[in-house]
Amino acid sequence: MTSDNQEQTAQSAAYPPPGRLVNPEEGREKPWISSMAEYEALYKESIQQPDKFWTRTANELLTWDKPFTHVTQGSLKEGNMAWFSDGQLNISYNCVDRWAIKDPNRVAFVYEADEPGQASKVTYGELLTKVCGVANVLHSFGLRKGDTVAIYMPMIPEAAVAMLACARLGLVHTVVFAGFSSASLAERVADARCRVVITADEGLRGSRPIRTKAIVDEALKSCPEVERVLVFRRTGNEQVEFNAPRDVWWHEAVAAQRPYCPPVPVSAEDPLFLLYTSGSTGKPKGVVHTSGGYLLGAAMTLKYVFDIHDGDIFCCTADIGWITGHSYVVYGPLALGSTSVVFESVPTYPDASRYWKLVEDHKITQFYTAPTAIRALRRCGDDFVTKCDLSSLRVIGSVGEPINPDAWTWYNEVVGGGRCAVVDTYWQTETGSHVITPLPGATVAKPGSATFPFFGVELAILDPTTGTEIEGNDVSGVLAIKRSWPSMARTIAGDHKRFLETYLSPYPGYYFAGDGASRDADGYYWIRGRVDDVINVSGHRMSTAEVESALIGHNAVAESAVVAAPDELTGQSICAFVTLKDGFEANDKLKAELVKEVRTRIGPIATPKLLILVDELPKTRSGKIIRRILRKVVAGEADQLGDLSTLSDPSILDVLIREVSTAI
Ligand code: PRX
Repeated sequence: MTSDNQEQTAQSAAYPPPGRLVNPEEGREKPWISSMAEYEALYKESIQQPDKFWTRTANELLTWDKPFTHVTQGSLKEGNMAWFSDGQLNISYNCVDRWAIKDPNRVAFVYEADEPGQASKVTYGELLTKVCGVANVLHSFGLRKGDTVAIYMPMIPEAAVAMLACARLGLVHTVVFAGFSSASLAERVADARCRVVITADEGLRGSRPIRTKAIVDEALKSCPEVERVLVFRRTGNEQVEFNAPRDVWWHEAVAAQRPYCPPVPVSAEDPLFLLYTSGSTGKPKGVVHTSGGYLLGAAMTLKYVFDIHDGDIFCCTADIGWITGHSYVVYGPLALGSTSVVFESVPTYPDASRYWKLVEDHKITQFYTAPTAIRALRRCGDDFVTKCDLSSLRVIGSVGEPINPDAWTWYNEVVGGGRCAVVDTYWQTETGSHVITPLPGATVAKPGSATFPFFGVELAILDPTTGTEIEGNDVSGVLAIKRSWPSMARTIAGDHKRFLETYLSPYPGYYFAGDGASRDADGYYWIRGRVDDVINVSGHRMSTAEVESALIGHNAVAESAVVAAPDELTGQSICAFVTLKDGFEANDKLKAELVKEVRTRIGPIATPKLLILVDELPKTRSGKIIRRILRKVVAGEADQLGDLSTLSDPSILDVLIREVSTAI
């Protein structure tokens, strides 16, 4: 079926909340929101009486050292939004101490190590001791409230411990995904002005060691301001270089510290973390999230969207290097005192039933992953799923990219057994938590639609050219949000102007998400993908400009143009067109070198799937590359190139089309 046909079928297909959720068996609680009427009433309150709504929820879900007296201030127009600004709290106290005091044996993390059969647990009591130990080490390094710390670690509970230890002291962490190259790490460490990096000797993924510490060492050659590197021993490989006194072993440093560290209260508006993400330009931006509003958003969405109750075991497979890992592996689950699974491995190790075995072994109740993983596992066949006992599951979620209705249906029927609610959650690094999402006990789902706004999120669809709001249903345009919400990013580190230019100035008075969207006849929202130069590969954001500048870094490259190509598995893939400088010969060896250049400069996630060496790129008479033409050609839509009157040399088109069809 074509994607259009799939969508038409999906528009008419409707999946009410599964009976098992709405009428739970004996001993199980009803969903937090169990009808559309309940959702609508609360949504209405969140929009019409925001002070009342947010005062209640912020006091119900968070513990404040100093209560806030006013809820929200500032405006999207001015870009000076603030939430609960005179309130004070400590994030690690909220995520750890509250539960450790009440029930120290409650499990905070189930750690599923890379090698099957090596799972272990961390209780809230143990977590408190671990977090305090590392916080005291960071304090002994001279770090104080407001200082920034980089975290470059594998998916192990200690990564979360490092984040929470920073939060305990009011330090700002910046987690860099451990798949990024040393150059990308160095760029982020320098931009965030980190003096300390927390890392591990090595990582392990699918039994393959990753040279984590060696990558940090390489990166730090260009970051002389880094004074200390705290190294957790994950594999114990003795070959790993250790440069004392800069490098400090985690276990030795912690052993020297008192196992309690008082939490430092911070303002709700103090930053909790920076997270770098790709935008339209080459330089990644450090999105700043605050403490109070962010934690409230993470906790509240998790509670309602995954319908978390006491005793649930929540599993989000995202890496902590991404926002999904921040909000739904660490902060959301812990703020609710829930149990979160930390998954170190890959979904196909040792075989394609790893996720499903994980669900069976740990009796996971809610499972959250990305469409790319769903599509890839679906290809491996149903047997890998059906041989596992998935009866513990109640809600299964999807995030990061549009989920095609076929994949949705498979997820629902084969993984969920038709007994689970499927939540397709739309959000972004910048939104901090879900903004459009179904609620499992209330929403009638349509495969491929993220459905309706979360509480407090007032959506608008705008005409992309005029910026006017398009009212009514059955409409398309660009997605925008009309008022601030607690977990929205407040700025870009060191560049508030860029924050305003990217999100708030394009359509004054609105937050511009960068995605196209439609609202169907029933008022459901459908995300249409990015309208800027951002490529979404397997749910990871890459900027075309970033890949282009990595390519230009190779001395053979004259020009490069990078576009997204549709990809059945990864949603989109990176397709690079390159022209060479005089004197360089186009051959496979050079192509391989160029691909390697991108992997070295950015990391394996930016690997172009297709790299095509061409004599010329399509340009306007004034010399601007017309990427639209390249996009159409790689999408196999060369017959729909549209207006070509600005193309300076139409004769290059045939060559281009031929080269692409040979390359594909
Ligand atoms: O294009 C949208 C897509 O992912 C972008 C945000 O990427 P990032 O900041 O890396 O965060 C990913 C995880 C939250 C969005 O602008 N996206 C995210 N979720 C969905 C989605 N597109 C369609 N449907 C979704 N559920």
